[in-house]
Amino acid sequence: MVAPALAAAAMAGCGGGVGDRDAPRDVAPLKGLDPQRFVGVAVQGGLLADHGYAQLVGSVFDAVTPENELKWDVTEPERGKFEFAKADGIVDFAREHGMRVRGHTLVWHNQNPQWLTHGSFSRTQLIAIMRDHIRAVMAHYKGRIGEWDVVNEAVDDTGKLRDTPWLRGIGPEYIPMAFRFAHEADPSAKLFYNDYGTERTGPKADGVYGLVQSLLAAKAPLDGVGFQTHVDAKPPPDYEATLRKFAALGVDVELTEVDVRVPDGSGAAALRAQAEQYARLVAGCRAVARCRGIVVWGLDDKDSWVPAAYRGFGDATLFDADLKPKPAYDAVRKALMGG
Ligand code: XIL
Repeated sequence: MVAPALAAAAMAGCGGGVGDRDAPRDVAPLKGLDPQRFVGVAVQGGLLADHGYAQLVGSVFDAVTPENELKWDVTEPERGKFEFAKADGIVDFAREHGMRVRGHTLVWHNQNPQWLTHGSFSRTQLIAIMRDHIRAVMAHYKGRIGEWDVVNEAVDDTGKLRDTPWLRGIGPEYIPMAFRFAHEADPSAKLFYNDYGTERTGPKADGVYGLVQSLLAAKAPLDGVGFQTHVDAKPPPDYEATLRKFAALGVDVELTEVDVRVPDGSGAAALRAQAEQYARLVAGCRAVARCRGIVVWGLDDKDSWVPAAYRGFGDATLFDADLKPKPAYDAVRKALMGG
């Protein structure tokens, strides 16, 4: 696993020029194929100026997640000064196209502004900072963003609570506190804990499971668990059983950031293996009644974070760089229709 912090640093501020691509006209949509589940895509606001990109996002999917625009460094670049223009662009696009929005994310250790990471705040101050941020962001989107990743990646790869400024500054209570602040800010929003590497058995999934159990025991207002699902083409061990085990705690589960990376320079066989993996991920979600949605992390291979985050890998999404659907696209369609 490549450290997400490095990836974030590598990609921060990048974006390049927005091209203007043509999307193929005959792409059969994914939305509505499974009436029980939404199918979403992570969107970069700047790319909505690319007609082909915007057309595919708006016609194929029924949900969007702003890929970076709701992260703290964008929404509160200076203490108490909130900036919503970038995320508003995506949320407006979603409304115009009848799409739902996942809010990502309120409390995380990455993509935070300098003032927050380099300030020396007391515990009381940090709690107030977290509360004010959650309140301001959620109040702005009340009624327009139906669900939020309130806390992201709070568990490390060994299953312990991750050593973050939040844990150091507030203590483990920062997590239930964040959920309570979020519930106060928008009582009708669905509140998620979101993490990676949880879609398979192992110490990470055990750690997240324990955290979710303790949140529920403490009556924290937690509605769901997001499984990021950044994977390669190998079947994740006990994937469906893991989703089921979390759902049995009485929470919804969603695949929130799916991508399936393949080694650079691989050919048709790798794209078939990728398609099978996508189909497996969709089928596993469909097999679990409380698995309510699937979001792909990036529309197409040109705009995916994978090449920057996982050296030597790429081509992880459903569309190629020319916006043509890949074998994985048809596999997802078929899987959504039942097999
Ligand atoms: C990634 C974005 O895709 C990149 O554009 C950005 O540079 C770094 O963050 N887990 C998460 C997401 O929860 O927010 C990350 O998104 C990918 C890993």
